Amino acid sequence: MCGIIGYAGSQNPLSVLLAGLRRLEYRGYDSAGIALTRGENDRLFICKNRGKITDLEQKLARSSAPVDARAGIGHTRWATHGEPSEKNAHPHLSQDGRFAIVHNGIIENYADLRQNLSKRGFVFQSDTDSEVIAHLIQACYEGDFKSAVAAAVRNLEGTYGIAVVCSMHPDMIVVARKGSPIVIGVGDGETIIASDASAVIQHTRHAIFLDDGDMACVTCNKVDVASLSNIPVTRELTHIDWDVGRLEKGGYEHFMLKEIHEQPQSLADSIRGRLIIEEGTSKLSGLRMEAADIVRIRRALIAACGTSLYAGIVGKYLFEDIAGIPADAQQAAELRYRNPIIEPETIMLAISQSGETADTLAAVREGIRKGALVLGICNVVGSSIARAAGRGVYLHAGPEIGVASTKAFSSQVAVLAMMALLFGRIRRLSATEGAGIASEIARLPQIAQEILNGEEEIRKTAEKYAGVRDFFFIGRGYLYPAALEGALKLKEISYIHAEGYHAAELKHGPIALLDKDVPVFAAVAASSGRIKTLANMQECRARGAPVIAVATDGDESVAAVADDIIHIPPCPEYLSPIPVVIVEQLFAYYAAKARGCPIDQPRNLAKSVTVE
Ligand code: G6P
Repeated sequence: MCGIIGYAGSQNPLSVLLAGLRRLEYRGYDSAGIALTRGENDRLFICKNRGKITDLEQKLARSSAPVDARAGIGHTRWATHGEPSEKNAHPHLSQDGRFAIVHNGIIENYADLRQNLSKRGFVFQSDTDSEVIAHLIQACYEGDFKSAVAAAVRNLEGTYGIAVVCSMHPDMIVVARKGSPIVIGVGDGETIIASDASAVIQHTRHAIFLDDGDMACVTCNKVDVASLSNIPVTRELTHIDWDVGRLEKGGYEHFMLKEIHEQPQSLADSIRGRLIIEEGTSKLSGLRMEAADIVRIRRALIAACGTSLYAGIVGKYLFEDIAGIPADAQQAAELRYRNPIIEPETIMLAISQSGETADTLAAVREGIRKGALVLGICNVVGSSIARAAGRGVYLHAGPEIGVASTKAFSSQVAVLAMMALLFGRIRRLSATEGAGIASEIARLPQIAQEILNGEEEIRKTAEKYAGVRDFFFIGRGYLYPAALEGALKLKEISYIHAEGYHAAELKHGPIALLDKDVPVFAAVAASSGRIKTLANMQECRARGAPVIAVATDGDESVAAVADDIIHIPPCPEYLSPIPVVIVEQLFAYYAAKARGCPIDQPRNLAKSVTVE
């Protein structure tokens, strides 16, 4: 949830840390802080603040930050234990002031640890679970920095990615991870550590991803990775091929708008090299499944959260319709705690943009424990879910920075469609049927572009309705999950209360809420339930509710039942969630903009939810 950064090298650590924190701010942004080392045994310099990185920068400008710092760590926080405040901001100092730590994750046994440490005379300054780590390291210190961190960490239950500096070893940073990511960028005479590769690539493309249970001792020219029992381990150097330019806003006002506009490209990147149209199939080598394994699949269980869950519901329909595999999509937390039934030949799909969502990761582990073949569908390469699953398909959609997920959704659906095609082709589709589906998938970048070409029409409609308090989104079949996603997008960034419903379910209660102030957004594009949805739209209008329709170009019948119509190009029902959701993304974006909302960093939300 929080962002971690650390630097040892010849540049001024303070400016590197601040640049890294700005890059990581999307992960959490209620408070921020840094710690710098100076000469050997000099006191650590700490500066922290409630608020955003700009607030921290202003505070630093008024302080006497050392210009000759040797190394440093920084943190941007999304509160879990203790309100956002200066005392709860990281870094946290040990009682003797010699160790400073930053932490991402949750220490589940912190209350016990705190009680024990308090009995031994340690005085706590914050309400956080994290502060125990700093005091524990001091308590475990017997002359060796790294061993003290290892000993402290062995007492922790829960999840952590931590970075620690020590006044007695000013050139060194010690990091450790369990459940929260740590990436180590290995540059030329400099080493940068971070919770996220996006903060590393400004410096180097060579990185080491720590595994759970790893720790590392880092200086400007050395990275020693070891287990917590101090046995050296080798982790390979990975080349990160994401482009720095793609991490900037690229001329758009918000990352969200940039990412919505990237969809023709991100879809093309997700599809590239994977469709074999002439054979009517796809090639997804990361699955590492032979035809014989695919024939045997009896059931697919899909685990995900948020937008990824709605892509997962589309996936369920795709698997059943195209591949003939019974499928179920479940909220990951529900799945993991409901003791899922995993029979032989059940595959589990974990869908996650970040690859770090705590509940989805836990569902993966539960699936593995119960013998399911688990496949990850992740965007972030080397992320925890991707590595825990060990096989799967990367989205290749490029980094997604806006908190509200956009391009990840379309790429997830595209990847699920390619997976359903591959499985379907092996199990029951003819080459001709497969080729038809493959050609439709290949058109997705063009379809996305056509929606973007109609952006003006969507902007005007969104501005017209930006002042309302409540909204309904309805759809049937493949457009039911699209309705759920449309409502989620609108509430996330515009704070308009919105509910996504199956069009048939509206009559079972929610219709009581409809009147002239409660518009209904109805997707009717090429769905098998089209006629029935048109009837539901009539019912809404009869209650005075304004109706906004998303309909296929040339569909004349909607004019009679809608106040506003947004057109999308013709496409098969099984891919229609992609154009409809792109319309909904733009609609939510422009409604939020008209309301003056902080679109890339909506209140109370975080990009990556690494706590349950
Ligand atoms: C958070 C984000 C959502 C995202 C969800 C799942 O709630 O704000 O945009 O859909 O997490 O994230 P994942 O990275 O697992 O797809």
